[in-house]
Amino acid sequence: MPPKAEIYLDSNATTPALPEVSRAVTEALMEGFGNPSSAHARGDLARRRLQRARETVASFLGAEPEQLVLVSGGTEGNNAVLGGAPASTLITTAVEHPSVLRPIAAAAARGATVVELGVDRSGLIALSALEEAMRVATRALVSVQWASSETGVVQPIEEIAAICRRHGALLHVDAAQAVGRLSIDFLTFSGHKLHAPPGIGVLFVRVPGAMAPWLLGGGQEQGLRSGTENLAGALGLAAAIEHRASRFAEALRALRQLRDALEREVLAAVPGVEVNGGGAPRLGNTSNLRFTGVDGQALLAALDRAGIRCSQASACSSRRPEPSYVLRAMGLSEDEAFASLRFSVSVLNTEDEIDGAVKAIKAAAAQLRSVLLV
Ligand SMILES: Cc1ncc(COP(=O)(O)O)c(C=O)c1O
Repeated sequence: MPPKAEIYLDSNATTPALPEVSRAVTEALMEGFGNPSSAHARGDLARRRLQRARETVASFLGAEPEQLVLVSGGTEGNNAVLGGAPASTLITTAVEHPSVLRPIAAAAARGATVVELGVDRSGLIALSALEEAMRVATRALVSVQWASSETGVVQPIEEIAAICRRHGALLHVDAAQAVGRLSIDFLTFSGHKLHAPPGIGVLFVRVPGAMAPWLLGGGQEQGLRSGTENLAGALGLAAAIEHRASRFAEALRALRQLRDALEREVLAAVPGVEVNGGGAPRLGNTSNLRFTGVDGQALLAALDRAGIRCSQASACSSRRPEPSYVLRAMGLSEDEAFASLRFSVSVLNTEDEIDGAVKAIKAAAAQLRSVLLV
């Protein structure tokens, strides 16, 4: 957990482990260790515990346990799908994570046809553009994120799934929550965004036999991803999911209340602030705010000095001084993108922290604007 003096509002980058998760991981690394492939009692125990963890995750997702491949995270899942799916046309959007865009660029270099759909100012793709791309596509795989980690904007996945079905295209969703409720072929997510440890994630494959393996060896994970399973990570993931599943509605409500309070209070206290993606359906925990006329990097640094951790663009690319390509694809100018910061809350945040963050944001924005006016 972050120390008391710190207010961590960057949960879309990663989250701290819950106490339940760290207990499950420690236990699995120490007393409960074992290789699920071993043919002795400890191996049996490890195998049964891994299966229970897989069932917990599957039941939360509404999937069958055999449809899940435990991977290291979203990056590996996305690369596995986009590098190995049987498709000759790849259709995606300009606002995907680099772990989708880069394997698609590699596929294009190998001769695949790639269609990149743009988004409107609110961050949503046009379904008519998807229909249009589908009309000329052969053996298409559509890869769309369920929700943007930068803006929280939620794409209309149900409609996208229906269009894919109608045209016989495969659908990959970079996210969670939609498996079992929608006709999706591939879905990927990382545990560490949900208070599980980094290094464990899930790739849902509707028909595992339809995929080529990407790690060859002992044949673990339905033969798709060989290598001794990350039992501690899997038990940590199961503990995080059990925790969330047991209080799902309450958690969503709490996240939305914290995010809405942050947004409402910043908008009231700081002039010239806009919500990027504010006109679209959004994740309840994410607020991407544009501080007109303020240098976002300077604001980020001032907030960091005050103990407030948030981010500009996504964590993997934010050390590069480039404007967010996601915000640029939404039609924001470079200056507007540079003036934007992402705040993302978790269930571990409190109302007092939000009050503290709002005060710090107000003071830092006023200070930076006063410097500009001198
Ligand atoms: C939408 C999205 N996809 C994929 C990833 C990659 O996840 P990981 O870094 O855990 O592999 C991230 C991480 O930020 C993400 O936000």
